[in-house]
Amino acid sequence: MNIDILTVLPELLESPFSHSILKRAKEKELLTIRVHHLRQWAVNEYGQVDDYQYGGGAGMVMMPEPLANAIEALSGEVLARGRKYDEIIYMTPDGDRLNQKIANTLSLKENLLIICGHYKGIDQRIREQYVTREISIGDYVLSGGELAAAVLTDAIGRLIPGVLNDETSALFDSFQDNLLAPPVYTRPADFRGAKVPEVLLSGDPKKIGDWRHDQSLSHTRERRPDLLDNEE
Ligand code: ADE
Repeated sequence: MNIDILTVLPELLESPFSHSILKRAKEKELLTIRVHHLRQWAVNEYGQVDDYQYGGGAGMVMMPEPLANAIEALSGEVLARGRKYDEIIYMTPDGDRLNQKIANTLSLKENLLIICGHYKGIDQRIREQYVTREISIGDYVLSGGELAAAVLTDAIGRLIPGVLNDETSALFDSFQDNLLAPPVYTRPADFRGAKVPEVLLSGDPKKIGDWRHDQSLSHTRERRPDLLDNEE
């Protein structure tokens, strides 16, 4: 999978993809992440990519021209590889709220472009003419879309087939079945008097599987009953 990210703050995205699972995904060549500085497509030599909003009001808006030129240039590069973007995603608090289902769907795509907004956001015409999907990572406002893009990329990247060592492990993540994950334990079996549940020491895979499922269900009922209501 190839993920291109368009931003005015590429420095913010240097570290998140250089460790752990995403680092391994890149090393295995299952994932390529390219971070592009929007200022390459600035409208003048001062690097301008934003301007005052029509109608007045505080805060700048990201101009359509640099964004359109950037999207077209990057789309051209993808086209040169015989492909096109499966989705052009704009990170914004008024987008669809990210969940595991969206991450699963996007992890099966080949080419994604993620646009990070800044200031008051991007000109509406870019949203209408180029963006195919708008995603929020939660009901709060960040200073920019970069951290949201990092969250989305991480959530997608770890689901790409072959990325996780033990491929089945993503199957048991919280949310995969609209259920939260069961509790986990490691050594020692007795930590200051608190014991690991007996069943986990039984060596009986069926019993352990049933226990985990029951725990998931009760945990979900207690903390996130809304997930059970949403079961499809
Ligand atoms: N940009 C600013 N806040 C955001 C959010 N909550 N989700 C996605 N992008 C954002």
